[in-house]
Amino acid sequence: MDFLAAYDAIPEDDVPQRVSLLRQGMVADKAAVFAQLRAQRPVFSTPVGVFVTRHPDVLEVLSAPGTFTVGVFGPALEDVLGAPFVLARDGADVHWRERGYGQLVLAAEDAPRVRELTASVADAVLDEAVARGADTFDLIQDYARPAAARVAIGYLGFTGIDEDILHGCTRAMQWAFAVNPERDPGIHAAGVAAGRELHDRVAEVIARRREAADGTPGDGPGVADGDGLGAASGRGAADGAAPGRVSDDVLARMLRISLPAEYAFDDERINANLVGYLTGYQQNATQCVATAVKELAVRPQALAEARRLAAEGDPARFDAFVWEALRFHPFVPVTPRLCVRDHTLAAGTPRQTVIPAKSVVLACFASAMFDEEVLDAPAEFRPGRPPAHNLVLGYGAHDCVGRYAASVILPELVRRVLLRPGILPLPGGERELDYAGTPFPQHYTVSSGRPAGNAT
Ligand code: HEM
Repeated sequence: MDFLAAYDAIPEDDVPQRVSLLRQGMVADKAAVFAQLRAQRPVFSTPVGVFVTRHPDVLEVLSAPGTFTVGVFGPALEDVLGAPFVLARDGADVHWRERGYGQLVLAAEDAPRVRELTASVADAVLDEAVARGADTFDLIQDYARPAAARVAIGYLGFTGIDEDILHGCTRAMQWAFAVNPERDPGIHAAGVAAGRELHDRVAEVIARRREAADGTPGDGPGVADGDGLGAASGRGAADGAAPGRVSDDVLARMLRISLPAEYAFDDERINANLVGYLTGYQQNATQCVATAVKELAVRPQALAEARRLAAEGDPARFDAFVWEALRFHPFVPVTPRLCVRDHTLAAGTPRQTVIPAKSVVLACFASAMFDEEVLDAPAEFRPGRPPAHNLVLGYGAHDCVGRYAASVILPELVRRVLLRPGILPLPGGERELDYAGTPFPQHYTVSSGRPAGNAT
């Protein structure tokens, strides 16, 4: 379909028709629309915002938080969290300061232990899914969702909170702030209520840990188990219960840090940050497991090679397959920014465009990662591309502050699936992600690898 010809044929003042065509194009074949925009209208002004589709231009937008702010979704995110948050603000006080805080508590050096934790959680959840005895199971509901939540319980420190609450609340929250462009009041209210519920649950966890005096999720001082993180695999274990007890999760670290009073960093700020981290993680991880498996499954050669590397245990080579798979289906295909002052984008190039103040600018990661002028043969599946060509974890001032955790959790969740050759999408159903009327995939059927009729 010639998207631009169809778009231009709609009179400029027929905004609903133009918006409807845009939405249709994005759902039906986003990649084709982006390819045409990159070639013919790389900076494309529409009633819903200015699509920025070329790799250098997306980087330019995301590198200038003083001009392109998170003001499009920041207020909704703060409503949902009930507090300021790093992804909801730009500038000195909240963003810059709490970005540093995030880097401290989501420590890069946790990565090996988080990978171990993820491996043990993933194996336990897969065993449960297979043990149900059916020939198939749902990779999202039966695996990715509980596995991601249990990693959050063990690593971030949501001790004692049921994994269904963690998942359900963050889904409502993400829906409200990130994928509710019309600001539907019902969706917004559901997100705010979910944020409140998580806040109250986390407040209880914090109170219990403060009582325990050392910030650990154990039943009193002295229960620390030494190496931290790696011990957690339990399903929503209560504080102090053996499974899920860890000595040094992210919440424990937050409770130990003591900042000077002028930062006003009290337990409410800790609560908002912890809930915010989960909101930036739970749906993302759940979806990415499914889409990475899908993108590998539709490429049998890549899948076979990924399985071989998974078994070889060379994480660097295996992980590159997962990140390349996600380039074809990123969790965040487009991130919106609010232009707060006139800005000349792509200055000195043929596509130079003045973006007027108050425009919504749509930085299209999913397009930038296929920019033919930057990437070599972008349509080819080539693990190990230069890191700057993969924008799955964002870019610039607001790129993923949880990237060290994400960079081990996601590949390991996928690796544990590929290590079981019997688990794979049904033939012909490799692309069948079922969104069930929500913005996030809800179901993806895979064979369980059990011989038919064997229920033991
Ligand atoms: C699991 C897969 C993950 C994916 C695909 C992912 C993706 C992203 C992306 C694309 C952004 C940039 C958003 C934008 O520019 O609008 C982002 C930011 C962010 N992510 Fe992640 N993320 C993941 C995991 C995590 C984890 C594990 C955490 C924390 C525990 C986290 C916390 C955050 C936060 C707080 C931000 C905002 C940073 C800022 O505003 O400076 N994410 N993430």
